[in-house]
Amino acid sequence: MTQRAANDLDPFWMPFTANRSFKAHPRLLASARDMHYFTPDGRSILDGTAGLWCVNAGHARKPIVEAIQRQAEVLDYAPTFQLGHPLVFELAARLGMLFPADINHVFFAGSGSEAVDSALKIALAYQRARGFENRTRLIGRQKGYHGVGFGGISVGGLENNKRGFLTLPGVDHLPHTLNLEEAAFSRGQPAWGAHLADELEVLIAEHGAETIAAVIVEPMSGSAGVIVPPVGYLERLREITTRHDILLIFDEVITGFGRVGGATAAETLGVIPDLLTCAKGLTNGAVPMGAVGVRGEIYDAVVNGAAGPGIEFFHGYTYSGHPLAAAAGLATLDVYEGEGLYDRARDLGPYWEEAVHSLKGAPHVIDIRNMGLVAAVELAPRPEAPGARATEVFHRAFDEGLLIRVTGDVIALSPPLIISREQVDELIGRLTDILRNTP
Ligand SMILES: Cc1ncc(COP(=O)(O)O)c(C=O)c1O
Repeated sequence: MTQRAANDLDPFWMPFTANRSFKAHPRLLASARDMHYFTPDGRSILDGTAGLWCVNAGHARKPIVEAIQRQAEVLDYAPTFQLGHPLVFELAARLGMLFPADINHVFFAGSGSEAVDSALKIALAYQRARGFENRTRLIGRQKGYHGVGFGGISVGGLENNKRGFLTLPGVDHLPHTLNLEEAAFSRGQPAWGAHLADELEVLIAEHGAETIAAVIVEPMSGSAGVIVPPVGYLERLREITTRHDILLIFDEVITGFGRVGGATAAETLGVIPDLLTCAKGLTNGAVPMGAVGVRGEIYDAVVNGAAGPGIEFFHGYTYSGHPLAAAAGLATLDVYEGEGLYDRARDLGPYWEEAVHSLKGAPHVIDIRNMGLVAAVELAPRPEAPGARATEVFHRAFDEGLLIRVTGDVIALSPPLIISREQVDELIGRLTDILRNTP
């Protein structure tokens, strides 16, 4: 056994991190409350990203903390294979009422990635249950992010996440809808781009609808740098999938729980998918949990339509419906509902939009995109060094007490929904100063 100091940074292989660079210049967070993180030396950091798009109600909220504490004492762990515990049924029922239309059955997972892989398997199981064994093909979209499982990277469209790994066969991709020539500095949903949904007709003509199980998209792509759906685009995807009897899956891991106004993007945009994945804001980020909401008809076909009396769906996780996550989820839904946070992005949206678009004209800014309480500020890349400018902005911001997120040369902002107008001004004001001082 090698001896290491307790504060040795080396053993932790950090996810999605330039480990060598981080460990040479670590940025540590020691505690958090409401809109702020605090570093080990006590500096406060304004959270412009809700952690990683998940702390929608703000940090360390008392009702959520206490629910987790209570649950840990009462029932720390219980399997949900062939057994159950009350809270997980309660949470499923609450989500079933919250999700739109007849999306009223819920399969639990431990993360967004697991929720996505579960949704893809449910889609295949449903097609098989209907007697459509040949409907196995999955359609994703370029620049889509659906987590890091092999299913998720296969339907996803971020090349760095796939390169060097095996991906599923029988997967194809729609084009993405980001186009700076046509739609730069759009406010909210761009007017241009709905026609790109028609590319689905091309894929259907190529492969045959009878081979396609499902189409999966994020209603608003977050991780690829905030790609807002063009006006009419999702409606057209819904129309085409319905006409060809193909399932439509919305990956709402980021957009769920108030991020774009309403409890889900589906509800806000009035486009109802057949399956809906969520995670992150489900527990306010406090305990890992993912979930798949499915239409009653899908549950009925797979579960009630099964031939024999045994297990209907051979899938699940040790932590599906974990008691601490279920407790955190129920307390989180109470906070969201009690504080009107599903309406918050709609109410604050116009102020937010005005504030983020005030960055137009700031140095290096080539596009600004926004939806709900999300924004992207895209910077011109430095010649020969894509991503370097935004990374420098990220480092400077952290040093100056502001947490932002960068992907390539895109700065993504998604503060907790409890952000005040003054804090919006502070966030944008500080970012403007940092951009002015960044070469
Ligand atoms: C749309 C979407 N799907 C899936 C995931 C994966 O979630 P997780 O990191 O919890 O596995 C993410 C994470 O950012 C996401 O944004």
